[in-house]
Amino acid sequence: MNIGIIGYGSMGKMLADKFALSGKNVYVSTRTRGRLESAPRELHICQDNTDTAQVSDIIFVCVRPCDLLNVISGIDGAAKDDALIVSLNGSVSFEAIRDVTSKKTAKVIPSVTAEIDRSQTLVTYSEFAGEEDKARLKELLSIIGNVIELPENEMGMGSELVSCMPGFIASMFDVVCESARKHTDIPDGQIVNMVLNTMSATGDLMLQKDMSFKDVVGRVATKGGITEVGTSVIYDQFPKTADELFGKTMAKRRKTSLESKKEG
Ligand SMILES: NC(=O)c1ccc[n+]([C@@H]2O[C@H](COP(=O)([O-])OP(=O)(O)OC[C@H]3O[C@@H](n4cnc5c(N)ncnc54)[C@H](OP(=O)(O)O)[C@@H]3O)[C@@H](O)[C@H]2O)c1
Repeated sequence: MNIGIIGYGSMGKMLADKFALSGKNVYVSTRTRGRLESAPRELHICQDNTDTAQVSDIIFVCVRPCDLLNVISGIDGAAKDDALIVSLNGSVSFEAIRDVTSKKTAKVIPSVTAEIDRSQTLVTYSEFAGEEDKARLKELLSIIGNVIELPENEMGMGSELVSCMPGFIASMFDVVCESARKHTDIPDGQIVNMVLNTMSATGDLMLQKDMSFKDVVGRVATKGGITEVGTSVIYDQFPKTADELFGKTMAKRRKTSLESKKEG
């Protein structure tokens, strides 16, 4: 099976390099060829997107949403009849993609944790994709972590929960560390290390012991104790921030989806 990657940016490079280094046959093309200078020699570099499409059974289109429909429309004639075209963008709908290709399509959203083979990769399929396509794509994506299938209408919120979440978590704990600095002389790097390791161990504890967030709070925040003072502040004040966060990201998602339809 040949895998095509179009667009060797942040996502395309990550997928191409991971797939190629795990022994898959990967063909790649991108707009600025200079980006491919440091690519692993296992990658087959194509002249253009048409060349990539011609030889590939699964074609990952890893470009920005504003370029997506033009790129798919450009490879539609060259791609094999039974190729599966995979969009890396959750906001451009299958309805919009159907206007530029009648091929089998899927959407895949990996997370940055794929770098350590712990992605929570979301996948959804158009009605044309068959069981064999699903099995082949799932097997391929398992190289970078877990694969979660969702209906198309849940890909937006799904993306917030796994693809955007590393950014949300990092920014939340950045704020927490910034605040901690005001109350201590512990060196900056040590504060970050302590919080990071505690964060990571809390996640592992919950997964391994099948604990809920409330279970952890219950274990640590004893009645009348210091942790309870802190968790009360969070339960009191953080819901407004979380509601605003998802309200704004989902609105931005709807706007991106509308703009991609106009540009296509
Ligand atoms: N970054 C993430 O964490 C993440 C997570 C999940 C999904 N996604 C989605 O993945 C997609 C790609 O995101 P990204 O962060 O990888 O973007 P990126 O870093 O900007 O990469 C896009 C790449 O596509 C290339 N490109 C643009 N037009 C092209 C064309 N006509 N033919 C061939 N290559 C072309 C660009 O070339 P140049 O070098 O010339 O600009 C660039 O190298 C987006 O739809 C994004 O929403 C991203």
